Amino acid sequence: MAEEPVLRTDELNKTYWSGPEKTVALDGINLEIRKGELLAVYGPSGSGKTTLLFLLGGFDKPTSGRILLDGIEISNMDEYRLSRIRRSNVGFVFQNYNLVEDLSVQENVSLTMMFEGKTEKEMKERTAELLDKVGLVGKERHRPSQLSAGEQQRVAIARALANRPRLVLMDEPTGNLDQDNSRAIMQLVTNIIRADGVTFIIATHNLEIVQETPSRLFLKAGQIATDLISHS
Ligand SMILES: Nc1ncnc2c1ncn2[C@@H]1O[C@H](COP(=O)(O)OP(=O)(O)OP(=O)(O)O)[C@@H](O)[C@H]1O
Ligand SMILES: [Mg+2]
Repeated sequence: MAEEPVLRTDELNKTYWSGPEKTVALDGINLEIRKGELLAVYGPSGSGKTTLLFLLGGFDKPTSGRILLDGIEISNMDEYRLSRIRRSNVGFVFQNYNLVEDLSVQENVSLTMMFEGKTEKEMKERTAELLDKVGLVGKERHRPSQLSAGEQQRVAIARALANRPRLVLMDEPTGNLDQDNSRAIMQLVTNIIRADGVTFIIATHNLEIVQETPSRLFLKAGQIATDLISHS
């Protein structure tokens, strides 16, 4: 039997109302993502990339349609159950990193583990392992403002991986990075997929990333413009 997809959507729709003004941000999105897959979501500004990532990660609810994470419908789940599933299954790397400025690099990475009831020792070991993985050994005590954009991006990735999620969603992960740093981040993502079988979805404007990613989805005005192209 074929393996159940990590993520599946069924006629996903998201409509926003600002007073009388209606915006259909997503319109009939059907997709399936398998374990260890890297999917690039590409599309112009306003095409619905961030909206899609937020829905897939359970950070927002669709107006209609269904989302199944590991075969479990999350689109109609109450916030309490959803937040628990999200914490242990989903890592999110926000476009602006969303690091906590008052906390050190080490503390930013440990934070999500605290809510999972990990011991001090477990958190310390996992944080050290993650900071090594993303190449930030020696920066543990820095504040986010004392880091370069590329380094902040790496902290955000380490934090997203802390609870060993099955799915990592990244919104414009290379938006503020030069070509060398963008390539380094993508190399890191590829290594993590190979080592841990984690599934990544990356929303990006970066054509180089899109060209080098076997699975891509083009969004246009909230719809899939070209079907999911997979060369794998
Ligand atoms: N909270 C909201 N209320 C009303 N409309 C919204 C809201 N959030 C997003 N939209 C609208 O939904 C559409 C899709 O927005 P979204 O942020 O998903 O686009 P995007 O592809 O991520 O764009 P960008 O590349 O600029 O980040 C846009 O037309 C936007 O104006
Ligand atoms: Mg966006």
